[in-house]
Amino acid sequence: MKINILGIESSCDDTSAAIVSDGVLLSNVIASQAVHSAYGGVVPELASRAHQQNIIPVVDKAIKDAGISKDEISAVAFTRGPGLLGSLLVGVSFAKGFSLALGCPMIEINHLQGHVLSQFVHEKDNIKKNPEFPFLTLLVSGGHTQIIKVKDYFDMEIIGSTIDDAAGEAFDKCAKVMGLGYPGGPVIDKHAHQGNPKRFNFAKPNIKGLDFSFSGLKTSFLYFLRDEIATNPNFIDENIDDLCASLQFTIISILIDKLKKAVKETGIKQITIGGGVAANSELRDTLTLTAQKLGWEVFIPERKFTTDNAAMIAGAGYFKFFKHEFASMDLAPDARLKF
Ligand code: KG4
Ligand code: ZN
Repeated sequence: MKINILGIESSCDDTSAAIVSDGVLLSNVIASQAVHSAYGGVVPELASRAHQQNIIPVVDKAIKDAGISKDEISAVAFTRGPGLLGSLLVGVSFAKGFSLALGCPMIEINHLQGHVLSQFVHEKDNIKKNPEFPFLTLLVSGGHTQIIKVKDYFDMEIIGSTIDDAAGEAFDKCAKVMGLGYPGGPVIDKHAHQGNPKRFNFAKPNIKGLDFSFSGLKTSFLYFLRDEIATNPNFIDENIDDLCASLQFTIISILIDKLKKAVKETGIKQITIGGGVAANSELRDTLTLTAQKLGWEVFIPERKFTTDNAAMIAGAGYFKFFKHEFASMDLAPDARLKF
């Protein structure tokens, strides 16, 4: 009999459901919430309301796309945290209801471990090589920026982390001050293609060890724009491509510099990336070039598996299923869940 895992992801502003069958992804449905773009960031209350509206149609479509019936589902894996509490509640409550109604077990997944394990999600016609343990993951999203030493599927150690803003937040906040809307990362990435990354120089922070900091960059970017606009009100419009390219170059250099340091300190040369910012073209290209130069082996996931998705939750759930690590009905979501 096949092991079919239904994955549910609702930690931030994407409602997603996926089916993984015997380790192979059959469907992955994502409903993104456009409602936040007008506010320049995710509004938690609006996010949980939208999850509430989306969750049933999204799960229904994931099951239909997979070509199975709900009675064939072996377990439901869901994101328990970290994330926005109201958003997590929708997914956790749905998983409980589904599990009770169908009599199948529930599996709790840490969202960040899901991102790391997205590397092991395979599609039917695209079975890739897996990294070997231990490897390093650069996890870069709107909420997190971490270097994780991955010793086994669920044995991970955070060896570097941001002390303030996440890399995605730096993209989003700087995009907001340039009037580029939310999320800012993809728009900055697009403009950067036509821009000169060396045109403007933004200082990189000097943070000890493997930790990161992005709040200083955001502030200096803001002050720089304020001063330039004082003499030329059209400064942003006239220089948008170069501004985006220079800002992106600075953020990516900060990430790559720390990754080089982590490889040096741990001696681990297998690298994976995950999280929304892992969709960034410059990060992907620079990582590939750095790997060629320094003899690393990098595993770059397809863009659809970098941003929030339930495929990674179902995939991680598949590994836990065999360990019989099932969640109990009294479990609550945890906005600050650690691993
Ligand atoms: O992982 P994710 O979907 O959600 C969480 O934060 O958990 O990541 C979203 C973040 C946003 O900050 C968004 O601006 C950023 O990922 N992002 C990008 C790109 N695509 C998404 N940042 C830079 N370049 C991109 N192409
Ligand atoms: Zn995420």
